[in-house]
Amino acid sequence: MLVPKPLVAGAIVLWITASALPLPAQESAVAPRAGPTAISTRDMVVSVSRPASEIGSQVLNQGGNAVDAAVATAFGLAVAWPEAGNIGGGGFMLIVRAGEEPVFIDYRETAPAAATREMFADGKPPSQYKLVGVPGTVRGLALAHEKFGRLPWDKLIAPAIALAEHGVIVNDALAGSLNGALAKSPDFPELRRVYAPPEGRDKWQAGDKLVQPQLAVTLRLIAIEGPDAFYLGRIAEQIVVEMQRGGGLITKEDLAGYQPLERRPIHGTYRGYDIYAPSPPSSGGICLVEMLNIVEGFDLRKHPRWSSRTVHVMTEAMKRAYADRARYLGDSDFVRIPPQLTTKEYASDLAKTISLAKTTPSEQLAPEIKLAKESEQTTHFSVIDRGGMAVSNTYTLEQSFGAKIVVRGAGFLLNNEMGDFNPQPGITTRDGQIGTAANEVRPKKRMLSSMCPTIVCRDGEPVLVTGSPGGRTIINTVFNVLVNRLEYEQPLEEAVDGLRHHHQWFPDRISLEGSRIKRHPNLVRELEALGHTVTTRYARQGDAHSIARDPRTKRLEGVADPRIDGWAVGN
Ligand code: GLY
Repeated sequence: MLVPKPLVAGAIVLWITASALPLPAQESAVAPRAGPTAISTRDMVVSVSRPASEIGSQVLNQGGNAVDAAVATAFGLAVAWPEAGNIGGGGFMLIVRAGEEPVFIDYRETAPAAATREMFADGKPPSQYKLVGVPGTVRGLALAHEKFGRLPWDKLIAPAIALAEHGVIVNDALAGSLNGALAKSPDFPELRRVYAPPEGRDKWQAGDKLVQPQLAVTLRLIAIEGPDAFYLGRIAEQIVVEMQRGGGLITKEDLAGYQPLERRPIHGTYRGYDIYAPSPPSSGGICLVEMLNIVEGFDLRKHPRWSSRTVHVMTEAMKRAYADRARYLGDSDFVRIPPQLTTKEYASDLAKTISLAKTTPSEQLAPEIKLAKESEQTTHFSVIDRGGMAVSNTYTLEQSFGAKIVVRGAGFLLNNEMGDFNPQPGITTRDGQIGTAANEVRPKKRMLSSMCPTIVCRDGEPVLVTGSPGGRTIINTVFNVLVNRLEYEQPLEEAVDGLRHHHQWFPDRISLEGSRIKRHPNLVRELEALGHTVTTRYARQGDAHSIARDPRTKRLEGVADPRIDGWAVGN
């Protein structure tokens, strides 16, 4: 059997933790430099995939900075975590450099020029080919690299090429992900061929090897020719042929015209911390800051973190922010977004509408939206380098394995991100479908996202990098982690592991993680007494691979979310 070379030299080194921190340190006195949690005073990469984190760490070790490592990790995830890691999708990268303005790179997909407002209005399940948005990842990563990268572009892609060629050793999480995709994709023969289990078997298991030779060729083209290979060259031709095969809308001109954008991130404050998070077309930053502003006035800390009082107040904030999301948010290049949503004054007015004795029905919160009647697979990773540069990146194919369409001859998946537009203009349902105008389909428009790669700073230096997959739950996952860490000053492991809750305005119910609810035996009953409808049906909410940094000692703590087999690596 061909065993791939280890991508990071060697032995796990034990590291003695040092100093007192402004925020609490991990409990244990000794922690490894790599593992589900890791400690380092130099740099850190945390992602859902061990080989992808090791690729990022190797790049840091070779003198690359956090952006170099993020680019390499992103290409690594496109090989090692195909359900969401991608070159055929899009996402957001947030970059903080000490003493400089934070930078937000928007590489969200766009609607093809032939897309129309009514294209999904009949309510029938659309063809996956019509759901493919113009991919943004390759030009997005190239823009980040061009502006901030230090190592050559091809060097950052080389480890992903090697991984695709020699094979990814499959762990339980990847086996489950691949088996799930195969079970759900009987009508996608190219997906079934590319991700077929080893010969003679009908399922993947841990220890198998996933080899992707066509993806290796595609990545090599991108490494040698740059992003134009994808948007103007051979890969663009392959995408167009694939679109024509299935009746998709993307043309040569759509691909040639795609541009990532540099935007100002949303900025908020919470108890002396600066919060940076994505601006539209993500709803992440606005909703996160709106919720933090609302709860800031309630002195949550006077009550235990998972008391019904704290969960109630946070939930009321969620409902109000998500109602605003439906009301106002879309691609800001197409719709005007009210500037007051992230102000303290607006939050204070909303806070006054919250009763501590009972929940406010969702219908009361946005009565002007006439009621008639998203997917979760995305991936997030966090990086900090030894110069204190931090990168928070979330990117996606939308659903798990995106549109399930593998571009023939090129070995990579296309997204189905058009599903993030409001499909039926005017039709907003109690089940959670939104039909408001701000996020209707328009040619070349970016669909509204919930992705929320976030960086928290103190005095200009990063102290927390986090984010998560999870569709509309993403913003609430980040909100939970930030409240745990910044309000309750929990150690990072606890802040990441703790029970998460989600409310998205409609359906009018709180979702509490089934896998963790037993830790809080009275919570459901107490929330119901406040008038909430509660579900514990979903075992887990997101996976927030995070890094905490002490700006004084430079100590970094990486925590891969225990909900999935992620990996943290420091040099
Ligand atoms: N497709 C998930 C999101 O952008 O929120």
